[in-house]
Amino acid sequence: MFQKDGPLPPPGGSIVILTGAGISKESGLETFRDADGIWAQVSIEEVATPEAFARNPAKVHAFYNARRRGLLDAAVQPNAAHRALAHLEQAWPGQVLLVTQNIDDLHERAGSRALIHMHGEILRSLCLACGETAPWPDDMSLESACAACDTVGLMRVNVVWFGEMPFEMERIYRTLADCDLFVSIGTSGAVYPAAGFVQEARLGGRAHTVELNLEPSEGHSLFAERHYGPASEVVPAYVERLLAAVA
Ligand code: APR
Repeated sequence: MFQKDGPLPPPGGSIVILTGAGISKESGLETFRDADGIWAQVSIEEVATPEAFARNPAKVHAFYNARRRGLLDAAVQPNAAHRALAHLEQAWPGQVLLVTQNIDDLHERAGSRALIHMHGEILRSLCLACGETAPWPDDMSLESACAACDTVGLMRVNVVWFGEMPFEMERIYRTLADCDLFVSIGTSGAVYPAAGFVQEARLGGRAHTVELNLEPSEGHSLFAERHYGPASEVVPAYVERLLAAVA
């Protein structure tokens, strides 16, 4: 279902894009709050809080080890929506910043470079002893050792758990306040601070706001323009409209 097309940013205008789990669904990765989502299978309090990790680190490691292995399955590849956003970054004559809530690496693999993982990355580790982060494609356990300080047993996945501060918020808010276009893709608008980004963009005074999602999100009424359908269809279509205006 396509709503009416809205205004386009000026050529060279600044664009901020927010993505959520919905953009990776058609690549074979699960979302969180759909009926078959991750939080319907396991509870946040058991695997996605600092308290859960302190209480039962082995359970938290097992949860992320299973999702990391799933992401590294050869069948999981960037889809047309990831590729369209990478193309927009290369072809748009202005700044494009991609802020993702996703901890997968599908945006990078599609070619996006101006990218912030505000909830961290499942393929990176964080050492609680020395604070070093590093690529970590393997399973992690209490026997895992830090390559920088050799400490064993204090490794965690470098993702942001509930109750922790998302990454690079200063830079995100600065860019939102100054953008001409804010596009929210594949997110339920259920979790802050990401769910508030549309208001931040509107407060900047000149941003046009667009929601591209499978169905209306919790914040859908805050968006000036909305298009609904699978990301692999609605995102390439919207990017094509943006680039046709600057061709
Ligand atoms: N195309 C586009 N959107 C889709 C598709 C699809 N093929 N499939 C599902 N969606 C939409 C759903 O309708 C829903 O609005 O994607 C959204 C997914 O919402 P969530 O599962 O809540 O995922 P997300 O919004 O990314 O969650 C935000 O919550 O659990 C935390 O840290 C976690 O980053 C996550 C954050």
